[in-house]
Amino acid sequence: MNYFDNPDYVVAIVGAGRGIGKAAALHVAGHGVRVACLDRDGDSARATAAEIGGRAVAHPLEVAEETSIPPAIDAVARAFGRIDALVNCAGITGRTNVPGHEVDLADFDLVYRVNLRGAFLLSKAVLPHMLARKYGRVLHVASIAGKEGNAGMTAYSATKAGLIGMVKSLAKDYVEQGITINALAPAVIRTPMVEALPQATIDYMTAKIPMRRCGELDEAAQMIAWIVSPACSFTSGFTFDLSGGRATY
Ligand SMILES: NC(=O)c1ccc[n+]([C@@H]2O[C@H](COP(=O)([O-])OP(=O)(O)OC[C@H]3O[C@@H](n4cnc5c(N)ncnc54)[C@H](O)[C@@H]3O)[C@@H](O)[C@H]2O)c1
Repeated sequence: MNYFDNPDYVVAIVGAGRGIGKAAALHVAGHGVRVACLDRDGDSARATAAEIGGRAVAHPLEVAEETSIPPAIDAVARAFGRIDALVNCAGITGRTNVPGHEVDLADFDLVYRVNLRGAFLLSKAVLPHMLARKYGRVLHVASIAGKEGNAGMTAYSATKAGLIGMVKSLAKDYVEQGITINALAPAVIRTPMVEALPQATIDYMTAKIPMRRCGELDEAAQMIAWIVSPACSFTSGFTFDLSGGRATY
């Protein structure tokens, strides 16, 4: 089913170089919309855009650096004349399998800069473009860790919980102006991020999934596409579940 049905529709995806962001970029492009691929790894963003073909653009964007964000978002608006949707898939775990009292402050700060501060700055940069047209869809990829807390992942769980709270608040600011702001909380999806984790961490997270399997990239991409399409029109401030039955609220 095509939820978009509009070839002018523009979806900007941060973290489009690989993993969930790349899968989402390829999937929404298949719906015939225009896609901006953004990533701190400019080469991988360009590779995703090249795989999509002529209707995609790519820009480097580092969400941990406030000076990097507005120019990249503005470049997308200039290239396409509008931004209808932003999907934020940029995120890092930091070091895992570390008890809270042993977490390094520099590691905590970096995870915060990317996962929460970066999401705030992205929202701040893209919302004026959406307000100008009284339409927008913003989706931040959080995590089940933000709802339940994963052992050995203090910074990750705390920043993803913060992201869920930020989305609840931001959504209320714009809910009467045609803009929805939501989050998505996946459990384990097999991506390069997960492959890089210690096996003990992957086993711990997977064992908690009642379906006893990891989520597939396509399952994430399909849900993301619907949430940032015009079809998802009566939900804002919500955290969608993608956890194989793990989430109970
Ligand atoms: N894979 C999972 O199981 C899972 C589960 C829950 C939540 N998530 C979340 O989903 C999102 C995507 O995860 P993934 O597994 O696809 O990760 P990934 O590491 O495979 O891909 C992340 C992409 O984001 C980019 N990125 C990272 N930091 C960035 C930054 N500072 N600025 C710009 N780009 C940056 C990377 O270059 C990469 O292309 C993350 O926010 C992650 O926390 C993933």
